Amino acid sequence: MKLIFLGPPGAGKGTLAAKATEILNVPHISTGAIFRAAIAAKSPLGLKVKAIIDSGKLVDDGTTIELVKERLAQSDAAKGYILDGFPRTIPQAEALADFSTVEKVVNFDIPDSSVVERLSGRRVCRGCGANYHVSFQKPKKDGVCDACGGELYTRDDDKKEAIEKRLEVYRAQTAPLIDHYRAKGILVDVDARPQVDTVVANFRKALSVQ
Ligand code: AP5
Repeated sequence: MKLIFLGPPGAGKGTLAAKATEILNVPHISTGAIFRAAIAAKSPLGLKVKAIIDSGKLVDDGTTIELVKERLAQSDAAKGYILDGFPRTIPQAEALADFSTVEKVVNFDIPDSSVVERLSGRRVCRGCGANYHVSFQKPKKDGVCDACGGELYTRDDDKKEAIEKRLEVYRAQTAPLIDHYRAKGILVDVDARPQVDTVVANFRKALSVQ
């Protein structure tokens, strides 16, 4: 299945994608995670995008589209994928339509107040990128990843000013994609407010998957 996960920052797209990738047996492709890995590696891409991401703005369409086009050309994405965080602008959606046919767009519905609460308490593993939350998804041992033992850290773009900027950017540039895909008849809404297990159940129901 070829899926897009759409929704505001902190809606829980990455958390659900980590589960949905196993349910559907397709790769989870997160543009944010690819950029963060490039930043950690200090690669030319990482050096180019670090300040943009830390401030909560979007990386330019050309760079992002090329990155996703190359990733979707890899063999593991032939049978399907979960695109988490792409497209984020109408030009990105139009470019994607030229190189792949998306089957469903899952729209994560959540109010801003929950987004701020989720992002300000998020902790991420430096080793494997797994997501935790200081209240909602605690690791077994403080500051240590359950999966790989890596150190948990706070993303630079989870600071207050950057969260506000990301929400502003989402409303202006990404939210119009909801109507764009609804008009094509491929958008499904998922209530992202409940706890993770319930969101997974909502997702299965919306896509009719066991
Ligand atoms: P990206 O990494 O995609 O960030 P985002 O879209 O802002 O999404 P997040 O990762 O912040 O949130 P999420 O919805 O995945 O929530 P999560 O599951 O972590 O992008 C980062 C940056 O890269 C962008 O700002 C931009 O600069 C750049 N970029 C990326 N793609 C781009 C593109 N296409 N074009 C241009 N630039 C691009 O959950 C959040 C927290 O809530 C966690 O702590 C989690 O444990 C907790 N949580 C999750 N679900 C629940 C639940 N149901 N109940 C309680 N807590 C929950």
